[in-house]
Amino acid sequence: MLACERVSLSFGGLRALDEVSFTVDDGEIFGLIGPNGAGKTTLFNIITGFLPPTAGRVRFRGEEISRRSAAQVAARGVVRTFQNIRLFREMPALQNVIVGQHLRSRATLLDAVLTTPAYRAEEARVRARAEELLELVGLGGRAGDLASALAYGDQRRLEIARALAAGPRLLLLDEPAAGMNPAETQALLALLVRLRREVGLSIVLIDHDMKLIMGLCDRIAVLNFGRKIAEGDPHEVRNDPSVIEAYLGRRIARPRDRHDATAGPPVLVLENVSAGYGPVSVLHEVSLRVGEGQIVTLIGANGAGKTTLLRTISGLVRPRQGRISLRGTSVGGAPPDRIVRWGVAHVPEGRQVLARMTVLENLRSGAYTRRDTEVERELEALLARFPVLRERQGQIAGTLSGGEQQILAIARGLMSRPRLLMLDEPSLGLAPGNVERIFEIVRELNARGVPMLLVEQNAHLALEVASWGYVLETGRVVMSDRAERLLDNEAVRRAYLG
Ligand SMILES: Nc1ncnc2c1ncn2[C@@H]1O[C@H](COP(=O)(O)OP(=O)(O)OP(=O)(O)O)[C@@H](O)[C@H]1O
Ligand SMILES: [Mg+2]
Repeated sequence: MLACERVSLSFGGLRALDEVSFTVDDGEIFGLIGPNGAGKTTLFNIITGFLPPTAGRVRFRGEEISRRSAAQVAARGVVRTFQNIRLFREMPALQNVIVGQHLRSRATLLDAVLTTPAYRAEEARVRARAEELLELVGLGGRAGDLASALAYGDQRRLEIARALAAGPRLLLLDEPAAGMNPAETQALLALLVRLRREVGLSIVLIDHDMKLIMGLCDRIAVLNFGRKIAEGDPHEVRNDPSVIEAYLGRRIARPRDRHDATAGPPVLVLENVSAGYGPVSVLHEVSLRVGEGQIVTLIGANGAGKTTLLRTISGLVRPRQGRISLRGTSVGGAPPDRIVRWGVAHVPEGRQVLARMTVLENLRSGAYTRRDTEVERELEALLARFPVLRERQGQIAGTLSGGEQQILAIARGLMSRPRLLMLDEPSLGLAPGNVERIFEIVRELNARGVPMLLVEQNAHLALEVASWGYVLETGRVVMSDRAERLLDNEAVRRAYLG
């Protein structure tokens, strides 16, 4: 069905892809894995006609497609989702799916202008199909909600529905499980299996979630520095020493040296905070506390309100009720810049970097509230800690790989020398090795006394570094306990730990 033949691509001096070859059979689910920056997304860009290769070619059902435009490739049934979600944010979910279908609508423009019966029938059909697809991906009840109002993991599902609307034969998914917890990932796996069985779809899948990759793929290719270093079935790949070395990493024994839950006076206190967007209430009387020197984690399903809670603390969403105080000062309703100046660093979900600025400019912008002379020293320390950022300090941030952007977003948050650090899904899009690195840094910062509020779909990791955890369900705190007790709690295990 798909054949990549010695595909190469260079960006200036950087060889992003180096003679990569593989084939995908009809009805096969094929995995593409590798460290951050290995070239996976770039390969999707080439297959789908967004970028021409410098050498080599891509064939789809025998026909060469590597010199065709993105629209021509899509018309042949090769459809993708994006690592950085590309939805029409201010359109309802249903409309987003309908747009996907218009790629292959049968009605002509003239039909549309005249609103002929044929056109109306087509519209009704398209709409019904879009509703069906939303149902299929588990968003049946959300048709009328704006895409921007959906939780990150739900937006990923919406992207899949939109891609399916285009009627693909080959579906390319770039990190579909990012932002989903283990239970949701499991549902995604079931959906993809079903699509293959019922529609006969072939799928190429990039993801850093090894459970998903190993559980789903017939075959897997591993990229590292633009080269294919291994290919085989899940068993072969998992046991390949070069893959373990380059990607899977050793499982480091995690020290359980967390700080005591009762440590320190309160840094952040929320009492009965309610908040939402327009007519929609998201948070209901949430109370929580982060103490000096403590790491507190917030776990819960997609859409539970975790991101909204962080946004409310940082002043991006106004609380409707309740009290928020930072080291004893009431700050609820204060504008975001005041909260930032107070020393709260919020690293938002979904790698938000200044896309048109360089890596270095991004890092400097993170220190804009600081007047001290140590900014340059801090910058140097961060570049030493994240060598990938040093190598790419002059690169435009928008062209970094997804994982590289995530590392930059976190490093930028650290540049402000926060007195309270809020991280929203720090492991999102990171390869296993980088996840370990980020969590080592979280531990280290905490050991230096930085209190943290951590939101993480990888609840297992989060509960291992945190001393205290809150479980949020549909905007309410339903449980709160010492982190190790939540780890051992059967209900929590079933719902969030997979
Ligand atoms: N326009 C560009 N200029 C310079 N380098 C680029 C450009 N576009 C991409 N790169 C580099 O090419 C490499 C491959 O990027 P790619 O996005 O394909 O990685 P990836 O395997 O998808 O990684 P991730 O798992 O982090 O998403 C990265 O190191 C990236 O910084
Ligand atoms: Mg990528």
